[in-house]
Amino acid sequence: MDISYLGLLLAFLINFTRAISTFSPARPPSLPLAVKSPYLSTWLDAGRDGGNGGYLPGQWPQFWTNQVTGWTGLIRVDGTTYTWMGNPIGPALAEQVTYEYTSTKSIFTIDVAGKLAMNITFLSPITPDDMMRQSLVFSYMNVEVTSMDGTTHDVQLYSDISAGQIAYHHVFKQDQALFSENDDQAEWGDCKLTHQSGIDKDVRGAFTSNGKLGNTNDTNYRAINNQWPVFGFSVDLGKVGTYPVDTLFSLGLCQTQAVQFAGNGGTQALPSLWTSFFTDERQALSFFHQDYSTSLNLSTDFDQRVARDSVAAAGQNYLTITSLSARQAFGATQLVGSWSSKYYLFLKEISSDGNVQTVDVVFPAFPFFLYANPTLLKLLLDPLFENQEAGLYSQMYSMHDLGTHYPNGTGHPAGDDEYMPVEECGNMLLMTLAYAQQANDIGYLIQHYPILHQWNEYLVNYSLYPAFQVSTDDFAGSLANQTNLALKGIIGIAAMAEIAHLTGNHHDAGIFTNISYNFINTWQSLAISKNTYPPHTTLSYGDEDSNGLLYNLYSDKLLSLNLVPSSVYDMQSAFYGSSGVAQKYGVPLDTRHNYTKGDWEIWTAAISDESTRDMFIQKVATWISETPTQRALTDLYDTISGDWPIDGPQFASRPVMGGTFALLALP
Ligand SMILES: *[C@@H]1O[C@H](CO)[C@@H](O)[C@H](O)[C@H]1NC(C)=O
Ligand SMILES: *[C@@H]1O[C@H](CO)[C@@H](O)[C@H](O)[C@H]1NC(C)=O
Ligand SMILES: *[C@@H]1O[C@H](CO)[C@@H](O)[C@H](O)[C@H]1NC(C)=O
Ligand SMILES: *[C@@H]1O[C@H](CO)[C@@H](O)[C@H](O)[C@H]1NC(C)=O
Ligand SMILES: *[C@@H]1O[C@H](CO)[C@@H](O)[C@H](O)[C@H]1NC(C)=O
Ligand SMILES: *[C@@H]1O[C@H](CO)[C@@H](O)[C@H](O)[C@H]1NC(C)=O
Ligand SMILES: *[C@@H]1O[C@H](CO)[C@@H](O)[C@H](O)[C@H]1NC(C)=O
Ligand SMILES: *[C@@H]1O[C@H](CO)[C@@H](O)[C@H](O)[C@H]1NC(C)=O
Repeated sequence: MDISYLGLLLAFLINFTRAISTFSPARPPSLPLAVKSPYLSTWLDAGRDGGNGGYLPGQWPQFWTNQVTGWTGLIRVDGTTYTWMGNPIGPALAEQVTYEYTSTKSIFTIDVAGKLAMNITFLSPITPDDMMRQSLVFSYMNVEVTSMDGTTHDVQLYSDISAGQIAYHHVFKQDQALFSENDDQAEWGDCKLTHQSGIDKDVRGAFTSNGKLGNTNDTNYRAINNQWPVFGFSVDLGKVGTYPVDTLFSLGLCQTQAVQFAGNGGTQALPSLWTSFFTDERQALSFFHQDYSTSLNLSTDFDQRVARDSVAAAGQNYLTITSLSARQAFGATQLVGSWSSKYYLFLKEISSDGNVQTVDVVFPAFPFFLYANPTLLKLLLDPLFENQEAGLYSQMYSMHDLGTHYPNGTGHPAGDDEYMPVEECGNMLLMTLAYAQQANDIGYLIQHYPILHQWNEYLVNYSLYPAFQVSTDDFAGSLANQTNLALKGIIGIAAMAEIAHLTGNHHDAGIFTNISYNFINTWQSLAISKNTYPPHTTLSYGDEDSNGLLYNLYSDKLLSLNLVPSSVYDMQSAFYGSSGVAQKYGVPLDTRHNYTKGDWEIWTAAISDESTRDMFIQKVATWISETPTQRALTDLYDTISGDWPIDGPQFASRPVMGGTFALLALP
């Protein structure tokens, strides 16, 4: 037998001993399990080790930072225990058969020794029109069990979670450090897991040997890596036949105080919004748990809306992208404040630096919020307006973020935040008009007119020839005269002209319309390559050999401004489609690097002709299936290898992937 034949045989045997799961609509780099807020963000990395990744039995679920959460699931069938989640020492692994995801769910089906079928649904509800439900920082895990072989089995079900970020029955961290983080995980709060019937609690070994737990409480507070305390629950399901038996677990993190915010009332601690609806976390959790049927229906409605709209806009490949991005975008946010007075949606710039409410992170994500419910966009913008209108920021241009470390939105009174003035002034004007148009809220424009006018003045002064500065893609480096950045500023001025028009400031409207048209004419003479074929915009003025994704053109279309001539749209679309710049997994962000950004690719797709649009979408969807990055969806990746950029940071789980909703946010 020659070696290659032996290798083939071994590969066959390995495949034979390890059942292969299907993954639908794709096997993403990391499978979202409980993804609901910056501190409830649990994933299962897909791995690329010959098909062994993305399996619930045999792998540990992880927080987005990669820390193991120790979430475990066991099932005992006629006296023999199997593992269906996690990788504890001991029990044999059950076999995963299918995995499927929607915008709100991850669903696994698992075969337990040919005897039982399990259907495990992780539901992180998205209810954009229902702030009360959306405010609950919880996620569901529903476990359905049926006999597979037609006979009745004696079944006990078990799940536990390590005490890393959770506690149960008011077992909370002994020393709560309010508003602090430890490796990006919340250091305070009270986390819970419940199930529908008969709670028992002890350790996995007791369950494995007895099928039940000892009902004892571990009151010995200790570090989680000291004898790994776990909180386990077991349910005796009794005799299980062909009629499905469901057990529901609810998991979450309750923080009564959520963020600190420097607004017009000074710096205050803001509570989680759910505290407006429930007296304490026990009541909130109990409501959530009993609300499964309604919450499931509302989430399924949202799933179906995204599916219908995505497929209609650009087909199944597009749905593969949007349905994976929805939870991730919303999961970076928390509803905070008071329902009866003022409430906000706070956003953490997960992974890149942890800033609060970063304007140029809200911006790439904003198509998702606009599509889900435009009011969510207002709730994201409100704290930025409130802080700066209260005079708490000392610059004339828009701030970059509300605070360096989430959850401290204490502002930058000295104006010393990251310097991105043209970028952020443009972003604020564009997002504010987008919200007002789609929510038909002219009052919002009137309310904020003075500061919008001030930011516009900055753009009039500095956007046509942006000085040496970074754009939102700060990792790519600083550059003067960036074509795409100037375009954002100029479209921002046209947006201000429209804001002036809508609010009856006709004199301003005339001036700003005039300026924006003058600027866009000059911009075209500076930004378009003259001696290269096919023609295209350059990365910076006069750099003939450069090019890049001109994603800022999207706002002109989104806001129906008709500022930029259609010839520019056509030129760019033809360039990406025909010039050979497209690599296997996408079109590079610009000529300085081989990496690209998935969010900006879809923004660009949204303003391209059909074939170029589908080219972008097909490449991003293929990348999702094939990337070896193995972490919660990154927005920054190498277009040739599909892997991490060789000359850039590793991002994971950033809300900017909400930008993939760009096609769906268009009016
Ligand atoms: C699993 O449960 C989900 C949610 O209840 C359901 O939509 C799906 O059809 C079930 N799948 C199987 C294979 O039972
Ligand atoms: C937020 O501010 C508090 C003091 O108000 C501080 O103790 C905490 O460490 C800060 N949190 C972060 C993440 O920097
Ligand atoms: C364990 O804690 C729960 C919740 O506080 C309590 O109801 C139960 O009585 C405790 N059990 C023991 C054995 O102390
Ligand atoms: C959820 O939807 C199902 C099927 O449409 C319906 O039978 C059920 O009553 C709904 N439940 C709630 C709580 O709305
Ligand atoms: C714009 O430029 C004018 C003239 O130089 C200056 O007075 C004004 O303060 C500038 N405004 C802003 C917001 O930079
Ligand atoms: C920006 O472009 C203009 C027009 O080409 C040029 O005059 C100016 O020197 C450029 N600025 C920088 C900093 O390169
Ligand atoms: C618009 O600009 C032109 C010069 O480009 C000028 O003649 C005209 O008066 C301007 N109109 C307004 C309303 O500012
Ligand atoms: C892109 O990758 C190719 C092939 O590895 C390499 O030759 C080229 O220098 C890279 N370009 C940049 C801008 O890094």
